[in-house]
Amino acid sequence: MSEEEIKELPGVGPATAEKLMDSGYKDLMAIAVESPRVLADVAEIGEATAGKIINAAKKAADIGGFETGDQVLQKRKEIGKLSTGAESFDDLLGGGIETRSITEFYGEFGSGKTQLAHQLAVNATQPIDQGGLEGEVVIIDTENSFRPERIIQIAEDDDIDPEEVLPKIHIARAFNTHHQMLLADKALEMGEDSPIKLLIVDSLTSHFRAEYVGRGALAERQQTLNKHLHKLLKFADRHNAAIIVTNQVTSNPDQFFGDPTKPIGGNILGHTATFRIYLRKSKGNKRIARLVDSPNMPEGEAVIRIEEGGVKG
Ligand code: GTP
Ligand code: MG
Repeated sequence: MSEEEIKELPGVGPATAEKLMDSGYKDLMAIAVESPRVLADVAEIGEATAGKIINAAKKAADIGGFETGDQVLQKRKEIGKLSTGAESFDDLLGGGIETRSITEFYGEFGSGKTQLAHQLAVNATQPIDQGGLEGEVVIIDTENSFRPERIIQIAEDDDIDPEEVLPKIHIARAFNTHHQMLLADKALEMGEDSPIKLLIVDSLTSHFRAEYVGRGALAERQQTLNKHLHKLLKFADRHNAAIIVTNQVTSNPDQFFGDPTKPIGGNILGHTATFRIYLRKSKGNKRIARLVDSPNMPEGEAVIRIEEGGVKG
C-alpha cells in the first residue's frame, strides 16, 4: 500500500522507489518530513528533484487537521497509567507512567534505569485495575542488560506467575543506531498484531553517543535521534502505548558538550520526551526520582528502593 503510494509520486522512478524503501522510507509521511539534502543523498538524485518529491509527498500524506478541546479531552480520557509499583512515585507522576507519551529516565550508571524498566515490564502485563496496561511489552536492548531472571524475581515477589509474564515480553538486542531504528519499525509492525502497550528503549542514547563522536557529528546525531523519537511517538499514539527511554548521564566531560550533568540528546530529546525523570543514587539501595519536566504535574521527588523483588516505594 505505502510502497505503491511512494511509486506514484511524481519524480519517483522504480530505481528511486527501491532506494527509498531500502533506506527505510516506507510511507509518505517519512518522505514528507525529510529535508531535500538528505533525500537527495539517500536516493542519489538531485536536490531539486528531491524537493519536488517531498512537496508531492506532503500533499499526498495525511498530515492531519486540528482537533477541538473537547475532542482532545476525550482522547486524554483514553490515556492509561502504568503503575511503577511505588505509591509515592506514582503520585509524583499523577497516577503512573502515561500512555501516548515518551517518559525518559536519566541518571548515572547504577541509578536504577534498567531495574525500573524490568519492573515496569512486569507491571504492564498486569490488569488495568492493578495498575497495569493489560498488554505486552517490547524491549529494545542496546546494552545487553535485559535479564529474564530479574523478571522472574520481580514477578514472584508480587505473587505473579512468571510463566504468564515472560511470554508477553519481547526483547531484541540492537547492535547499532541503524539497527535500533529498524527495530522500532519492526515494533510498529508487531503492534498491529499484538497488544503491545509498553515499548522500552534501554538505552536510547548509548549507540548514538558511540557512533556520532565530536562536535562535527552533533547536528546529524540530533537529526537522527529526532527521527527515531518521532517513530516512537507514532507508536505511542497509534497503539495508545507507553514509551520509556533511558539515557545515561556521565560525569566524564570528554563525552559531553557543555554541562556534564545534562543528559545527552540535548534539546531535541528534551522537547520530545513528555515526562523526564532524573534518577540519582542515595544511601544503599535508595534512589531518588525527580520529576523534571511534565506537561501537567509539578516538579517533585520520590524516594524508591531497588530490591531483589524489584522497585519498592
Ligand atoms: P547503566 O545502565 O549502567 O547506566 O545503569 P542503570 O541506571 O541502568 O542501573 P541499573 O538499573 O542496572 O541499577 C543497578 C543497581 O541495581 C545496582 O546498584 C544493583 O546493585 C541494583 N540491583 C540489581 N539487581 C538487584 C537485585 O537483585 N537486588 C538488589 N537489592 N539490587 C539489585
Ligand atoms: Mg542500564
